[in-house]
Amino acid sequence: MLEEIKLKFVALFNAEPICFRSPGRINIIGEHTDYNNGFVLPAAINKSIYFAIAPNSLQKFRFFAYDLNEYIEIEDIAQSKIQWANYLLGVIDGLNRKHKSPGYFDLVFGGDLPFGAGFSSSAAIEVGLAFALNKVYDLENSAMDLTLIAQKAEHDFVGVKCGIMDQFAVMHGKADKLIKLDCRSLEYEYHDFKLKDYSFVFADTGVKHNLAENEYNLRREQCEKGVEIMKENGFPIQSLRDLSLAELEGNKTQMSDLIFRRCSYVIEENDRLQNALRAMEKNDWKRFGEQLYGSHEGLRHKYEVSCRELDILVEATYDMPFVLGARMMGGGFGGCTINLVLNEAIPEFKSQLQKAYAAHFEKPLKIYEMKLSDGVGMC
Ligand code: GLA
Repeated sequence: MLEEIKLKFVALFNAEPICFRSPGRINIIGEHTDYNNGFVLPAAINKSIYFAIAPNSLQKFRFFAYDLNEYIEIEDIAQSKIQWANYLLGVIDGLNRKHKSPGYFDLVFGGDLPFGAGFSSSAAIEVGLAFALNKVYDLENSAMDLTLIAQKAEHDFVGVKCGIMDQFAVMHGKADKLIKLDCRSLEYEYHDFKLKDYSFVFADTGVKHNLAENEYNLRREQCEKGVEIMKENGFPIQSLRDLSLAELEGNKTQMSDLIFRRCSYVIEENDRLQNALRAMEKNDWKRFGEQLYGSHEGLRHKYEVSCRELDILVEATYDMPFVLGARMMGGGFGGCTINLVLNEAIPEFKSQLQKAYAAHFEKPLKIYEMKLSDGVGMC
């Protein structure tokens, strides 16, 4: 893939590029907790976007999106009608606001990371470009600066008020490790990923969640509303993680049922993440799997970010004795499910799940296995 990207660059721009790899991410548990200052458990994966890049002496940027076979030239940094360009332009804008700015450049990017499938291709593009420009132009921003610039690009140019999880995982991923990230302090620790007899397997609904930004931003506002109400009721809190479920329940009558459900989901999801980590330390995969199912139930009924395709995929695993847990992964409204499956039963899992999906939908179901990989880097 990298070779193809490089060749395309040479063919288009007649110059030698510098190349970078930026991975996608998975998240084991802790969904919609990042912008609530809670905990997440992501990892970078071995599916990536590759960047071939070189400065040019023109007064314009030239971008080629390999997977879409689309070429554009841009002179000014402003939000574009072309959505994929916004991921890049937002990053350039963010870098321009720092002490040193990048110049004009040519870029070809593309890879084997599926778009809009819940593996955060958007963060892979943002972090990949931020990292690449930082190196090519020696801009001297720290890894954390670049992570925040990438997140801000998503906020300001793409319009999704996302948390920090995706960009952080793409930047800090390590082979065979999960990252437990405290999204408030940004402290993190790596956890060995030893599943022994089980693997995580991913089932892609094929439903793109691109149009879900309004719903996403709305969830964020609803959680903020919950925090505000609890503050007004005398709780000196900053975020939902500072509350116990009992405290929230004690104030249930002070808020609408909707706000209560959103907030209780977030509090419970933080607890599930801690339970899952404890279960992982004891190799108690059954308990670990229960946390995944619990997460899906919460995302479906309380947080309401699932969709029929995701629910059918999760429900289909209930009768599979070789699946210990399953849930939707990422922002929701499409994308994929993450499934904890007994290694020797993976072929059986795939065929049963494909059959179950085909019984309801005409879309094909793609199933992926992933390895945990290093974060963004030069290649
Ligand atoms: C998207 C966002 C993340 C996070 C997840 C849900 O991937 O980019 O910040 O909120 O949804 O956990």
